[in-house]
Amino acid sequence: MSPITGEDTVASLRARLEQTERQTNARQRQLERYAADLREVFKQERARAQELRRSYMATVRALSNAVEARDAYTGKHAERVAAYGMELARAAGIEIEDSPQIEFGFLLHDVGKVAVPDAILFKPAPLTDEERVLMERHPVTGSEILREIDFLGDAKLVVRHHHERWDGGGYPDRLAGEDIPHAARVFAVADTLDALTTDRPYRPGGSFADARRVVAAGEGTQFCPTCVAALHEVSDHRLEELRMGISA
Ligand SMILES: [Fe+2]
Repeated sequence: MSPITGEDTVASLRARLEQTERQTNARQRQLERYAADLREVFKQERARAQELRRSYMATVRALSNAVEARDAYTGKHAERVAAYGMELARAAGIEIEDSPQIEFGFLLHDVGKVAVPDAILFKPAPLTDEERVLMERHPVTGSEILREIDFLGDAKLVVRHHHERWDGGGYPDRLAGEDIPHAARVFAVADTLDALTTDRPYRPGGSFADARRVVAAGEGTQFCPTCVAALHEVSDHRLEELRMGISA
């Protein structure tokens, strides 16, 4: 047996080093393949999620249009309120990306009105106490209609609480202050904004400036102060842009 020389040791070390290098390179290539696969899966998942969201939105719009088709006067009220509401929600610091259902809630807020008889919904005179009770049932009816639809999530809270008031004088649950879900508080401002700036058979729509004055007068009683502040953040120009973006 020949003695081990320094040269043998260097040669064997070099061989081991080369082998380790080959293994490392192979592992690296494998990792790169995994990364590419993951990127592809992620891309497909994102496309699927977007497709799903488009389907959800189409379903919600169909439902919302079905409700609005009954009332020729309100036109595209739900779509305008949703556009104003989303803008206000952003200004109020609500993370829209984390709560995509909010927009669905804005669009579907009055879905419960399907259960309100025409004679009450379109009554040109003030409602009797009995009729008002029936009318004020629509937020609860709406949230019950949507109860089983899981993807609507927090949208159901907007539907149930869109007529609550900051001072606790609203309905159906007489919630007050921050007990009212944030998106429902934002909605109340958007709803008033649209109601006051849209033509009705008995009066023409007012300006955004007039609507702002009415909203400001209701701060701390009807409306949440931070939601009123959010309205100050949005210019008349932007509101007009949103309104024009929705064909009547
Ligand atoms: Fe309503």
